[in-house]
Amino acid sequence: MLRFQHEINNWEVNQVASTVLVTGGTGFIGSHTTVALQKAGYRVVILDNLHNSHAYVVDNIAKITGVRPAFVQGDVRDPQVLASTFRQYTPDAVLHFAGMKAVGESTALPLVYYDNNVHGSVTMLQAMQAANVRTFVFSSSATVYGDPQQLPIPESHRREATNPYGHTKLVVEDVLANLWESEPGWRIARLRYFNPVGAHPSGLIGEAPQGIPNNLMPYVAQVAVGQRDKVRVFGNDYDTPDGTGVRDYIHVMDLAEGHVRALEYCRDCDSSELLTVNLGTGQGNSVLEMIRAFEQASSRPIPYEIVDRRPGDIAACWADTQLAEKTLGCRATRTIQDMCDDAWRWQTSRVE
Ligand code: NAD
Ligand code: UD1
Repeated sequence: MLRFQHEINNWEVNQVASTVLVTGGTGFIGSHTTVALQKAGYRVVILDNLHNSHAYVVDNIAKITGVRPAFVQGDVRDPQVLASTFRQYTPDAVLHFAGMKAVGESTALPLVYYDNNVHGSVTMLQAMQAANVRTFVFSSSATVYGDPQQLPIPESHRREATNPYGHTKLVVEDVLANLWESEPGWRIARLRYFNPVGAHPSGLIGEAPQGIPNNLMPYVAQVAVGQRDKVRVFGNDYDTPDGTGVRDYIHVMDLAEGHVRALEYCRDCDSSELLTVNLGTGQGNSVLEMIRAFEQASSRPIPYEIVDRRPGDIAACWADTQLAEKTLGCRATRTIQDMCDDAWRWQTSRVE
């Protein structure tokens, strides 16, 4: 099946045996990106403090790819761990996923969020400077667009943050722009993800939220297996076709492969580069459409009730993907049904 315009496995892999450091690599997006990187011929070192993930993910990545990534259990805010990791593994690029991402928690614990997301990123950049490594791929978010003024959302859209989590993403984006302006040689990609969902088709890795999921699809999956009664649909009076919120859901493997493309782009450019690009599908789907697709994937009814809007939610959001297609040559092709089928396989096969 066509995944991207060119299959990753068919690339002329000129980077074989290059080593990359993946922070947050046992987490949801980092683990899938590790699989995609290994398939493209990279050696991967994962650094994760296991705050929101499990060490068994490393075993499952090895089962999928046949290659075990190196694993360092450590914190990105710890300069000594970073220095020793750079010394031992000599990576030539960093993909930085480590961070915290729950909007509500960030409002309750802003200092924890600034410390982890901003201080963590700055500490990593300092360690990279010291090790003379200057290729950095950063996990930003469509949250930096706030309430969209236009759809689809282009990268040039004005940026605003409505919560501390969003502010941490804005601050790190700015830190990266300042660093890139101040010091020649940096190759930086700021990737703005829309709504990553789904799982690896093997069912061996996926999203494993702790406690009650904040996000729609993990919640729907838990209702489907009977772990929760029903989905609470936050509002059906938005100005959208069926009144429920519309988002740009992207399969996590399309997102993962987008990272490989972004890394390739940074490595291949002749001079320094500051790339800012959306990673989405360019399509919006409503909450009710997602529930229906999950019913199909699971062959089970998914009970739901309409409740009040969630404070801070926007009506609709989807990406302008032209820049991703033009610069990275990538276009997400997995469907909503693929996302739900793979999430369902993961939900029903996972053992923790
Ligand atoms: P995740 O929680 O599954 O993964 C993050 C990983 O980072 C976890 O394994 C966690 O243990 C680790 N980690 C956290 N703090 C750390 C620290 N100080 N040192 C070392 N490891 C640490 O989250 P995810 O969904 O994979 O998100 C990855 C990145 O993408 C985050 O930066 C997030 O803000 C960003 N992002 C996620 C989404 C989304 O919907 N999932 C959307 C936009 C952006
Ligand atoms: C949320 C965050 C965003 C963050 C992203 C990924 C908020 C306001 N936004 O995005 O900053 O980058 O997660 O972590 O928290 N929904 C329900 N019932 C539910 C859960 C969600 O109806 O139980 C609806 C929401 O109203 C929305 C859609 O489903 O319309 C998607 O919600 P969600 O998965 O939480 O993602 P975002 O709100 O887009």
